Amino acid sequence: MIETTRTVSTLRSWVKTCRQSGKRIALVPTMGALHEGHLTLVDLARRHADEVAVSLFVNPTQFAPGEDLDRYPRDEQGDRAKLDARGVSMLWAPTPDEMYPDGFSTTVSLDGPALGLETDHRPHFFGGVATVVTKLLLQVLPDVAVFGEKDYQQLQVISRLTRDLDIPTQIIGGSTIREPDGLAMSSRNAYLSKEERQVAPVLNITLKAAGRAALAGDDPRTTETKAISQLLAAGFARIDYVAIRHAESLAPLTSADIKAGQPMRVLGAGVLGKTRLIDNLDPRSA
Ligand code: PAF
Repeated sequence: MIETTRTVSTLRSWVKTCRQSGKRIALVPTMGALHEGHLTLVDLARRHADEVAVSLFVNPTQFAPGEDLDRYPRDEQGDRAKLDARGVSMLWAPTPDEMYPDGFSTTVSLDGPALGLETDHRPHFFGGVATVVTKLLLQVLPDVAVFGEKDYQQLQVISRLTRDLDIPTQIIGGSTIREPDGLAMSSRNAYLSKEERQVAPVLNITLKAAGRAALAGDDPRTTETKAISQLLAAGFARIDYVAIRHAESLAPLTSADIKAGQPMRVLGAGVLGKTRLIDNLDPRSA
């Protein structure tokens, strides 16, 4: 039976009990509104640990004013039932005051993979993510923590962060789970109207085509520009980026880099109606 805790001290007692019986712990950080993508991360976590903890915290510091913090989907009871059915032992669901007590004044600052892409359009985002993820990792001190590849830049930022800060947790990326038409599963898909939902898979289709074109020798910058025009023509209101990048450093790749077999990722983000969608893929295996 899943246990729910809301204070760092009760969480730490649970961690201590697990440790005293020699158990390995995995953490899956989430903001709730769980779908099959999250539950697949839980299954992956189970393969690496004896006990799985899932955190559920809609982190206010990664939302800018005017973003969807207030309307972000919340269903703690439904989430708990899904996690219980998946054998999760601990739901770590702190209140905002427990996470950010009065006077909270420390943040993690970032460089490297945090530069560009999401940061160009949501400058507050990775600072908020990095600070809360650092706290979550220090609260649970898990052996492994699992993050979805759908938020690919986030995964690179967190991997870099744990290496740089000597946090002794192995970071594991879980593959993106898709709807049958290729749309990456996301809690924000719930915002899409029926018409927008029909257009949404074009993001994945266009990123795949851009990856194929770059692999076939087309200039990556021209390919990115073409993909952006195609997405706008398909009905996206705004495209923040389509980017053909090195899979780890996220530096832009040239045709020569691609020809030389450099690890590659095609990433895209845009707004459909009022919903911001992101996706990415490895064109060599897509
Ligand atoms: O990917 C998410 O759901 C969030 O950014 C995370 C990692 C749980 C931090 O709030």
